[in-house]
Amino acid sequence: MLNKRAKAHSLLSMFMFLLLLSFSLSQVDELKLLLSFKSSINDPSGFLSNWNSSTPLCMWHGITCNNFSKVKVIKLIEKNISGTISSSIFHLSKVEIIDLSTNQLSGKIPYDLVSSLSLRYLNLSNNYLTGAIPNCSISLEILDLHDNLLLGKIPPQLGVCLNLKELKLGGNNLVGRIPSSISNISCLQILTLADNKLTGRIPHALSKMKSLEWIYIGYNNLSGEIPQELVDLGSLNLLDLVYNNLNGQIPSSIGNLSNLQYLYLFGNKLTGLLPRSISGLKKLIELDLSENHLFGEIPELISELQSLEVLHLFSNDFTSKIPNALASLPHLQVVNFFSNSLTGEIPSSICTISSIEVLDLSHNNLSGIIPPCLGNFSKYLTILDLHMNSFHGTIPEMFGEDCGLKNLNFHYNKLQGSLPRSLANCRNLEMMDIGGNKLNGTFPYWLETLPELQVLVLRSNSLCGVLQSSKTIHPFPKLRILDLANNDFSGPFPKGIIKNMKAVMNFSEEQNSLQYMRGRLYFYDVSLIVKGFFIKLSNIPTIFTSIDLSNNNFHGEIPNVIGKLNSLKGLNLSHNSFSGHIPISMGNLTNLEWLDLSSNKLTGQIPDQLKDMTFLACLNLSHNQLTGPIPQGKQFSTFENGSYEGNLALCGFPLSKSCNNDRRKQSSPSFLKVADDSETKINFGWKVVLMGYGCGLIFGVIIGYVTFRNGEPK
Ligand SMILES: *[C@@H]1O[C@H](CO)[C@@H](O)[C@H](O)[C@H]1NC(C)=O
Ligand SMILES: *[C@@H]1O[C@H](CO)[C@@H](O)[C@H](O)[C@H]1NC(C)=O
Ligand SMILES: *[C@@H]1O[C@H](CO)[C@@H](O)[C@H](O)[C@H]1NC(C)=O
Ligand SMILES: *[C@@H]1O[C@H](CO)[C@@H](O)[C@H](O)[C@H]1NC(C)=O
Ligand SMILES: *[C@@H]1O[C@H](CO)[C@@H](O)[C@H](O)[C@H]1NC(C)=O
Ligand SMILES: *[C@@H]1O[C@H](CO)[C@@H](O)[C@H](O)[C@H]1NC(C)=O
Ligand SMILES: *[C@@H]1O[C@H](CO)[C@@H](O)[C@H](O)[C@H]1NC(C)=O
Ligand SMILES: *[C@@H]1O[C@H](CO)[C@@H](O)[C@H](O)[C@H]1NC(C)=O
Ligand SMILES: *[C@@H]1O[C@H](CO)[C@@H](O)[C@H](O)[C@H]1NC(C)=O
Ligand SMILES: *[C@@H]1O[C@H](CO)[C@@H](O)[C@H](O)[C@H]1NC(C)=O
Ligand SMILES: *[C@@H]1O[C@H](CO)[C@@H](O)[C@H](O)[C@H]1NC(C)=O
Ligand SMILES: *[C@@H]1O[C@H](CO)[C@@H](O)[C@H](O)[C@H]1NC(C)=O
Repeated sequence: MLNKRAKAHSLLSMFMFLLLLSFSLSQVDELKLLLSFKSSINDPSGFLSNWNSSTPLCMWHGITCNNFSKVKVIKLIEKNISGTISSSIFHLSKVEIIDLSTNQLSGKIPYDLVSSLSLRYLNLSNNYLTGAIPNCSISLEILDLHDNLLLGKIPPQLGVCLNLKELKLGGNNLVGRIPSSISNISCLQILTLADNKLTGRIPHALSKMKSLEWIYIGYNNLSGEIPQELVDLGSLNLLDLVYNNLNGQIPSSIGNLSNLQYLYLFGNKLTGLLPRSISGLKKLIELDLSENHLFGEIPELISELQSLEVLHLFSNDFTSKIPNALASLPHLQVVNFFSNSLTGEIPSSICTISSIEVLDLSHNNLSGIIPPCLGNFSKYLTILDLHMNSFHGTIPEMFGEDCGLKNLNFHYNKLQGSLPRSLANCRNLEMMDIGGNKLNGTFPYWLETLPELQVLVLRSNSLCGVLQSSKTIHPFPKLRILDLANNDFSGPFPKGIIKNMKAVMNFSEEQNSLQYMRGRLYFYDVSLIVKGFFIKLSNIPTIFTSIDLSNNNFHGEIPNVIGKLNSLKGLNLSHNSFSGHIPISMGNLTNLEWLDLSSNKLTGQIPDQLKDMTFLACLNLSHNQLTGPIPQGKQFSTFENGSYEGNLALCGFPLSKSCNNDRRKQSSPSFLKVADDSETKINFGWKVVLMGYGCGLIFGVIIGYVTFRNGEPK
């Protein structure tokens, strides 16, 4: 008995000893494997400095062991490591989690990955890995290779990884079709293949993946129709097929996806009507079908989408009225119907949507008056964009004390009367564009205290009166685009406003810019004349600054103070009655890219200081009473006759009339085109509509996001 027990004891000790031995041996192996991994990477921040034999392996940075001192987790997230991934880490026998995301690793993903029988989580996203997608190990549950430089096709062998729950291969250079074998992974919940170069159809087999919750396959070149069968994905929460080549109709079966919360089909070639079945999507929060060829009516049935917060149907061919049903959606925040052919009036029921933040009905065929109740949208409404419609009547006194508007755009309607004083309640207003209407009355001084106003466009109305010096100490503190063109303003140059435009003096990058609001929800648009071109700026960059007073009845001298606006890009004072000399201080406007002083009564010589405007690409001094020699050299060698015609007595290049005793006459126009630079200085989206004049160079013309349809009527 005792003997037996002793025997058992010694056997146990023996076993323990062997266990210890094997354990310590294997830890030496693991140490070797990890050091081999370390040897193929660079670690400039020294995070791996304690990966050495004098530190116990389980205490190494980024390493976690299991209860038996075996490496279980390797986590080196955002550690700035570069180099290649050695296959050795996939030979660690108990490793379950490897996360090397957000580093600068390059080279191929080792094929030995397949041999790991313990690995559950592999995250190599946000690196510079190249080569093909490796075959995956059978134990893998999460594979994230997002945002690398991986090439080739998606290997059909991925279908053997039956335990995968998340597969993220987006943001690579993958080509070919989505293999249908992928549908063998029946427990997959998240599939991300977005932003690759995949082609072919969406495989019907996807519908076999009953556990799928999120599908992201946008930003590829998939074609064909959306398969009806997708309806079988009863757990689907998010479907994102955006910016592909999909055509055909939206399958009516889509309404059976009763768990769907996010449906993004924008940027395809989908056509037909909005299926009535869509009312089945009771949990839908965001619906974005914009930039397709959908037509017909926006059905009242959308009233059943009771969870809806965001509704984007812009850039389609919908022709209906604005559905009353919008009013019954209690959580609606964003309505964007921009660029359709909607008709009729704005239903006043719309005012009962108290949660609304963005209402964009621009570029439609809407008419009627602007319902006064829009003011009752109160503090949540930040964007009200009705531009390019046929609204008439006056702008109601509708802006309450809690007005939260940031952008008000009524450009190109048929609005009359004067601007409502209650606009001064909108303390957050950043941009106001009411150009192209029939508004009368005087300049809206009451806006000058608005602390955030950056863009004020009043062009092409019938506003009149003198712009006197204001009483406010710093009127319009953030203004950087002021467009008063084509009105009946009179009196002297509006010095009081201009000399306080701090945003146009010594520009600094910190200034607020009117950027995209919340991703792609809304674009700030403004229509202006730039370098003689009528353009539509989308997403106005901060550095863009301009003043346009053209086509009014301003008279008197251009004040010296203009020279303070040294961040100004464009100045148009043409078609007024300005007299006197061109101020020498204008040479201080060294960022100016276009200058139009034409059709005034300016006299005297063109100051030589204007040569300091090295970015000047367009100059128009025609139809004045200027005399004397034209400055020579620099930018002035690029302008042609048209810039100067119709003056009293100008001489020198490019005119044929030479100046007597002019030493500058000989300077040849050989100076290289310095201002090519101007193209890169403001190369944001704009679109040309109308031909300009007086420009010495080709302009940086980049087609913007928004297609502009109508030209300026002048
Ligand atoms: C090993 O790591 C320790 C930190 O744990 C460090 O102090 C020591 O300098 C390292 N030894 C070598 C040889 O790098
Ligand atoms: C590891 O040890 C902890 C306590 O130290 C215990 O709760 C856990 O169950 C152990 N895990 C395994 C896999 O043995
Ligand atoms: C990352 O490494 C690069 C050089 O490889 C270095 O220039 C950079 O400053 C590092 N960044 C951080 C955050 O350590
Ligand atoms: C992978 O890592 C990235 C960056 O650290 C992280 O954003 C992402 O959520 C991770 N992927 C998974 C599936 O956990
Ligand atoms: C993946 O596995 C298949 C067959 O199982 C093989 O033909 C292919 O070469 C493997 N791919 C890689 C990258 O190892
Ligand atoms: C997928 O499953 C089908 C049968 O369900 C099988 O024939 C096929 O070989 C599997 N494909 C892969 C890549 O495992
Ligand atoms: C997308 O695929 C279509 C054919 O389906 C082809 O004509 C087109 O060139 C492809 N576009 C890109 C960007 O690859
Ligand atoms: C969709 O649901 C309706 C009613 O709930 C049902 O009659 C129809 O068969 C379903 N369609 C599909 C394709 O499952
Ligand atoms: C706009 O509506 C008017 C009638 O209200 C119609 O004559 C015109 O063709 C419509 N324009 C467009 C572009 O649909
Ligand atoms: C705005 O709402 C108030 C009640 O909240 C109502 O009395 C008023 O008439 C409304 N104004 C307009 C213009 O609809
Ligand atoms: C402004 O226009 C309205 C409507 O067209 C007109 O009734 C009013 O008299 C005009 N006011 C001025 C000052 O011209
Ligand atoms: C123009 O610049 C010069 C020198 O930089 C300066 O002395 C002058 O005051 C400036 N003029 C104006 C109006 O700002």
